[in-house]
Amino acid sequence: MALVTSTEMFKKAYAGGYAIGAFNVNNMEIVQGITEACKEEKAPVILQVSKGARAYANHTYLVKLVEAAVIECPEIPIVLHLDHGPDFETCKACIDGGFTSVMIDASSKPFAENIEITKKVVEYAHDHGVVVEAELGTLAGIEDDVKVAAHEASYTRPEEVEEFVTKTGCDSLAIAIGTSHGAYKFKPEQCTRNADGILVPPPLRFDVLEEVSRRLPGFPIVLHGASSVPQSFVKIINENGGKMPNAVGVPEDQLRQAAKLSVCKINIDSDLRLAMTGTIREFFNEHPDKFDPREYLKPARANIKELVRHKLRDVLGCAGKA
Ligand code: G3H
Ligand code: 13P
Ligand code: ZN
Repeated sequence: MALVTSTEMFKKAYAGGYAIGAFNVNNMEIVQGITEACKEEKAPVILQVSKGARAYANHTYLVKLVEAAVIECPEIPIVLHLDHGPDFETCKACIDGGFTSVMIDASSKPFAENIEITKKVVEYAHDHGVVVEAELGTLAGIEDDVKVAAHEASYTRPEEVEEFVTKTGCDSLAIAIGTSHGAYKFKPEQCTRNADGILVPPPLRFDVLEEVSRRLPGFPIVLHGASSVPQSFVKIINENGGKMPNAVGVPEDQLRQAAKLSVCKINIDSDLRLAMTGTIREFFNEHPDKFDPREYLKPARANIKELVRHKLRDVLGCAGKA
């Protein structure tokens, strides 16, 4: 199977009450860990590349790595998506350069300007058979070099979504309902603590999601900042020389709930980073004499694979849907 767009995936996901995992890729081991899990679990997948990933690994290397995954996993549909496209030029470069889906993220711009930029990208993308994700509302956290402070973040205003989607022609919409990027999604003072002293974050704004879905029936919604920050990996990192106090993510049961509603794409990056970093930190601590990168990248890749398998089966619900 060649690279596909997300159109069919989202239709089936919406009807089936599950979501497609959109995992960020930056190097070969991450591509392999994700796609090996998806292949074994027969899950459709979106591999997404940020501006930072293109700067780090080079556009061509990333496209070729994803094309290699397509050859190795012929039985599953794979989308190659630009994550948080900052402007028309970056989106155009990805559309011209083999991507099947792009996100234009003009969510920090005023409403009218967001519409104008998004519309321009949609026209070019659709002329080239590529689909477009847009965003309304602002997530707190870090997206490439744009840092959004929690007090500047705002939930999506449901009363804006129909006009936005109609005027732009976008194919999916990312909304802000309380998730945020990175490993510190909620401040300790926003959380309560459970019996084990683990931080429990405030619930996502399902009321906003439900009102958006009511206004856009059948339309695929996207959740960014959807890592759950597994405390097992935070513990391994902290026990092996790392320092990640109070790292906390979105509870997985809430993501499962969102996937049963109109959320068709769930973005996960930080959890992969935690799995990779925790594995490598532990390896270095246990084997201070080792220096062959293959020896620590192999278990890191294996742990990414197991983490993704868990997401597909237990969080997204997309295992067996390829
Ligand atoms: O939304 C942000 C993603 O986690 C990508 O992160 O910009 O550091 O590649 P990055
Ligand atoms: P996390 O930082 O929660 O993994 O979010 C990733 C993301 O939204 C990529 O666009
Ligand atoms: Zn994001």
